[in-house]
Amino acid sequence: MATSTLAHNAPTTTEDFLPLKGTDHVEFYVGNARQSAYFYRAAFGMSLVAYAGPETGQRDRASYVLQQGKVRFVLTTALRSDSEISRHVEKHGDGVHAIALWVDDATQAWKETTSRGATSVQPPTEVSDTHGRVTTSSIAAYGDTIHTFVERTDYKGAFFPNYKAIPHDPIARPVGLLHIDHIVGNVGWNSMNQWVDFYRDVMGFGLYQHFDDNDISTEYSALMSKVMANGNGYVKFPINEPAEGRRKSQIEEYLDFYGGPGVQHMALATNDILATVAAMKHQGVDFLTVPHSYYTELQDRIGKIDEPIHELEKLGILVDRDNEGYMLQIFTKPVEDRPTVFYEIIQRKGSRSFGKGNFKALFEAIEREQELRGNL
Ligand code: FE2
Repeated sequence: MATSTLAHNAPTTTEDFLPLKGTDHVEFYVGNARQSAYFYRAAFGMSLVAYAGPETGQRDRASYVLQQGKVRFVLTTALRSDSEISRHVEKHGDGVHAIALWVDDATQAWKETTSRGATSVQPPTEVSDTHGRVTTSSIAAYGDTIHTFVERTDYKGAFFPNYKAIPHDPIARPVGLLHIDHIVGNVGWNSMNQWVDFYRDVMGFGLYQHFDDNDISTEYSALMSKVMANGNGYVKFPINEPAEGRRKSQIEEYLDFYGGPGVQHMALATNDILATVAAMKHQGVDFLTVPHSYYTELQDRIGKIDEPIHELEKLGILVDRDNEGYMLQIFTKPVEDRPTVFYEIIQRKGSRSFGKGNFKALFEAIEREQELRGNL
């Protein structure tokens, strides 16, 4: 019997020492930002809103800022081989370098977290242009991933000082993505609890849900996961570690190809998953599929839902229900050649959970892909 626990944060008596207003942006280090940006614009429908590079006085890198709803990605590439960005790409392939969190006070956020044991990556730094000023600070998280605190009080520009605004993107084909629902990190063997402690002690997060390997093991592939959330619940970070199974865990495959811990997937929210997924498929995004039997059993498992089941099956969308409502979700295949970062598209209809009822079908789908790659 499954034993996941929904542990919604009980109100605490202590004040939230790290108040977060949400995710500001996610910065990827990639091998070719111009071409990656084209993929996210044409396939995910994001708009290019700002750019920084040699033309704007940034000599060592080029950065493309993409946005849809409140989802904001920054794709950054190195212009020369001797750089932290090139080394990141050489080791990890294209991947997430920074999960940037929106705060009122980036100096205070840095002080509160570093005084609780965080490793500083960048002390508070203010940059400004004619549109105002932005202060950032950064701390280390799992692997080479960092958290950047972004204070953009009164900043009126497109993104950051010294970025050029792009007023209109003729390539973007929006698909209805609204915001980031959660960002999942994969960490090494027996390291999940160390990172759970980091998010609790250093960042003041609470345990939101946890799953053990009875919930999420299949014949071959096993993992354990705990979901950490900040005080207002705007920021949710599930942390996965591999567990022993008969064959190689999907988390182990990730760790092998990413070269260590890192961001596994980001869940992007929509309020019309049928339209969003149909558009993304049409625009070339590849999704995982589950067998027909999943849908023949669905009605009995889920009860009545608004969406016609044959429409869900046509697109491969999964459904799960808990006592608060239901949620619909689907997962892309990895979006780069290494089997590393992928996306989840999610629509919540009352449920605040993460689709435990789909783990088996989903992981079997992932294993079929691992098998094709020769990595099972
Ligand atoms: Fe997820």
